[in-house]
Amino acid sequence: MPFTWPEDCTYGDGTMAEEHRELIGLVRKLEEGLHAGLAQAELLARMDRALALLRTHLDAEEAALRAAGYPHLGAHRAQHDDMTRALLEFRANVGAGTAQITESVLHFVFQWFRTHSKYEDRAAAEYLRSLAAAP
Ligand SMILES: [Fe+2]
Ligand SMILES: [Fe+2]
Repeated sequence: MPFTWPEDCTYGDGTMAEEHRELIGLVRKLEEGLHAGLAQAELLARMDRALALLRTHLDAEEAALRAAGYPHLGAHRAQHDDMTRALLEFRANVGAGTAQITESVLHFVFQWFRTHSKYEDRAAAEYLRSLAAAP
C-alpha cells in the first residue's frame, strides 16, 4: 500500500511535518510487520510506539495552536480526541484478544491521518504562517 504524504502540509519550522513523516514511518513498520507475519504481540509493540508518538505529536500541535490563539482549536482538538479514543479502545481490544491488527485497520488509520493532515493540519499551518508573516 504505497502512501504518499502530502508535501504541501508543512509547518513553518518543519517540526510538525517531520513528526507526521515519523508517524507514517511507524505505521508503515506496523504494516511491514503484518505482511511479515509477526505475532499480534509484536505488532502490538509496534503499535504502542506509534501511539506514543501520536500522543506526543497531538499534544505538541495543540499546544502550538493554543499559544498562537488558533480560532478553530476546539474543532481540531475534537478530531484528535475522537481518533485517539478510537485507537486506544482498539488497542485495548487487541490486548484483550478480542480484536486484531489487520490491513483494513491500518488503511483506516492512514486515511484518517491523511484527511486530517490535508485539511485540518494544513489550515492550522496556514494560520501559523499568516501570523509569522504579519508585520
Ligand atoms: Fe492535527
Ligand atoms: Fe498533526
